[in-house]
Amino acid sequence: MPKVISFSSGKGGVGKTTLVANLGHLWAKRGTKTLLVDADWTLGKLGIALGARPKWTIESALSGRVSLGQAVCPVAKNLDLLASPSGIIGFEELTAGQRTQLFYELETVGSHYDVVLLDHSSGVDWGVIQFAAAAHQHVIVTTTEPTSYMDAYAIMKILSKRFKVNEFWLVVTMSPNGSGTAQRIHRFTEFVRSQLMVRVHLLETFQVEPKLSESIRIQKPFVEQFPDAVLTSRLEALSLKLEAARGQVTNGLRYFYSQNSSLLAR
Ligand SMILES: Nc1ncnc2c1ncn2[C@@H]1O[C@H](COP(=O)(O)OP(=O)(O)OP(=O)(O)O)[C@@H](O)[C@H]1O
Ligand SMILES: [Mg+2]
Repeated sequence: MPKVISFSSGKGGVGKTTLVANLGHLWAKRGTKTLLVDADWTLGKLGIALGARPKWTIESALSGRVSLGQAVCPVAKNLDLLASPSGIIGFEELTAGQRTQLFYELETVGSHYDVVLLDHSSGVDWGVIQFAAAAHQHVIVTTTEPTSYMDAYAIMKILSKRFKVNEFWLVVTMSPNGSGTAQRIHRFTEFVRSQLMVRVHLLETFQVEPKLSESIRIQKPFVEQFPDAVLTSRLEALSLKLEAARGQVTNGLRYFYSQNSSLLAR
C-alpha cells in the first residue's frame, strides 16, 4: 500500500500545488514511484505546474470514457499524474457516488506506487475534507497572514475532531523577512496543540521566492530548473522528513469509505 500524503490549506493561493509539483519530482528522482493526484476537481492546475499535457482527467474516468488507470499521465521517470479538469460544467462538486467510485479506483491505481500526493483545492468543503481524511500524513500549508492561519486552523480542527487525525505537518510559505515571524509561527503551533490536542510539526518555512512563481510561468518545476539551488536542497530535506515519519494508520482509500461511513455522514 502506498503512503498517501495530503496537502491542504483552507486559504487559497498559498503554494500547495507548487509544493506538490516540486516534491513529486524529488521523490521520483530518488527512485520512489510517485503518483500526484490533482484533487482540485474543478480548477485543476497541477498539470500546468508540471508542464504536463494530460489527455484525460479524473472527470474522463468518472464519466466512463476511460478507466482511472488509463487517465494516468506519465510526467517523468517514476512520476505520474492524475489530472483534474478546469471549468467543466456539471462537474462542480463530486457526488457521493463519484467519490465512492474514485476511492475504490484510486486504491487500485495507487497500489502501483510507493507514494501518492494529494493536491487539494482551497476551502474546507466536504469534498476536500473527506479526501484529505483518507491520507496517512497531513501537510497543512499556510502563509504568515492571520487569515491563512485561521483557515489552516479550521481545516485541522475539522480533521481532528471529525476524523480523529492527530498529527499535522506544517509548511509556512511566503514568509516575510524580519523579526517576529518565528515567534508568531511558534505561537500558532502552540495554540493548535493546546486547543486540538494534536501533534504539530513545523516542517519548513519558505520566504517569498520569486523564482518559484517564475517556474510556474515557464511550466517547469523549480527543482528541475535549479537542481543545485539551496531551495531545492531544502525541499529535498522536507521530502525526506516526511518519508522518514510514520504515517497515521488509516484503512487506506478503498476501505475508508465503507468502514467509516458513519463519520462521512454529514
Ligand atoms: N514561497 C513562495 N514564494 C513566492 N511565490 C510563491 C511561493 N509559493 C508559491 N508561490 C506562488 O504563489 C502562487 C500560488 O501558488 P499555488 O498555485 O502553488 O498555490 P495553491 O495553494 O495551490 O493555490 P490554489 O488554492 O488556488 O490551488 C503561484 O503563482 C506560485 O508561483
Ligand atoms: Mg493549487
